[in-house]
Amino acid sequence: MPVAARENTRTAKKGAAELMEELNADTAKLHAWIRTQANSPAQRPWFADTSDARGELGSGRVAANQLKMLPHRWRWREISPFLFRIAELARNAEVKPLETTDRQGILLTNPGLGGRLQITNSIRCSIAIYNHGDIAPAHIHSPNASRTILSEKGGYTNVEGERCECRRGDLVLTPNGTWHDHGNADSEPMIWIDMLDWPLMEYFDCVWVDQNYSDGTRSNAKSQPEIHSDGHSTRMYGNGGMKPLFTSNQRGWGQQATPMFHYRGVEIRDTLHRLRKEKGDPFEAIKMQFVDPVTGGPVFPTLDYCAQLIRPGEELEFKRETCSTFVLVIDGKGFTEIGGQRFDWEQNDILAIPNFLWRRHVNTGSEDAVLYTVSDAAVLRAIGQYRSQGKHRDGKVVQIVQ
Ligand SMILES: [Fe+2]
Repeated sequence: MPVAARENTRTAKKGAAELMEELNADTAKLHAWIRTQANSPAQRPWFADTSDARGELGSGRVAANQLKMLPHRWRWREISPFLFRIAELARNAEVKPLETTDRQGILLTNPGLGGRLQITNSIRCSIAIYNHGDIAPAHIHSPNASRTILSEKGGYTNVEGERCECRRGDLVLTPNGTWHDHGNADSEPMIWIDMLDWPLMEYFDCVWVDQNYSDGTRSNAKSQPEIHSDGHSTRMYGNGGMKPLFTSNQRGWGQQATPMFHYRGVEIRDTLHRLRKEKGDPFEAIKMQFVDPVTGGPVFPTLDYCAQLIRPGEELEFKRETCSTFVLVIDGKGFTEIGGQRFDWEQNDILAIPNFLWRRHVNTGSEDAVLYTVSDAAVLRAIGQYRSQGKHRDGKVVQIVQ
């Protein structure tokens, strides 16, 4: 039988797709794949309709490397004992963990992301504890990073020569391309949360870290000299709509990096409380965004940082967004419903909200609740992919950003 006829007979028996799949054993050696499946995107376009479509992982070859984060809550009362154990072990160790691990703390891993060191698709989150005398040496890196302070006091970060003394609720930013070193000169252990857009930079194979700091006279210096005293960021950039013209406002050599490095918790809280009698937003209550004081844009080109106040008894309405969000409970008691699951929270608890599920926050306590959030809305807006919907109590779905 001629070859063509033989092929025809095989095709009739087995089907083209099956035969193509057999050929894939050979094409794999060439780093190529003959298509035998339709695309199966993990994300359904929920923002184009009003259904509860939430997106599911595909299967087979087209789903290779698809991951979908899950909603999750990390309870402070479960995590924090480990931090204090770490501090105790470190205090008594001959070789301090910081000598070999750079940082001392716990990285949170989202249960949907296969053990990767990330809490959402784009954000790394670690909770660090530093004993008296611990120093994280001066370094600089491509990821944008921040510290949110949980301890009442103690600890400092020096960013580009600005000494930032840490207090509870402070947000200290270390934008890409800024030298920074951390430490704790206080007698008590110091705890803060590090947030980074590391997974995004990793995706682009764009992560680098340089630890060889030189202050002009010393190379490999552990700490930067103090050029600006504590409060410099507030003095220069905390003047509500006024920016200094006597300086370049370029600090460090990062691109699109905010020059305001230090937001004080007490001022954040005061700002929220001053506005607590405003009507606010039905989905977000009294929510304020941290912005680059020079551009008015997000503090990082990748991440949005916000603080929000929810009043006692206030029940927000459902919202969903194309961004994924990290939530830290600074004050108060309540719950967040995410995709039909209820997550009760109290001070210092952390939540991860995926980018495809309806969520709402409720304050069940007798005091104001204050949440800090970090999301990848900034980068999604920059690439034209930020969308959000709200759902009113009567079930009516409204487009917020289409
Ligand atoms: Fe760093």
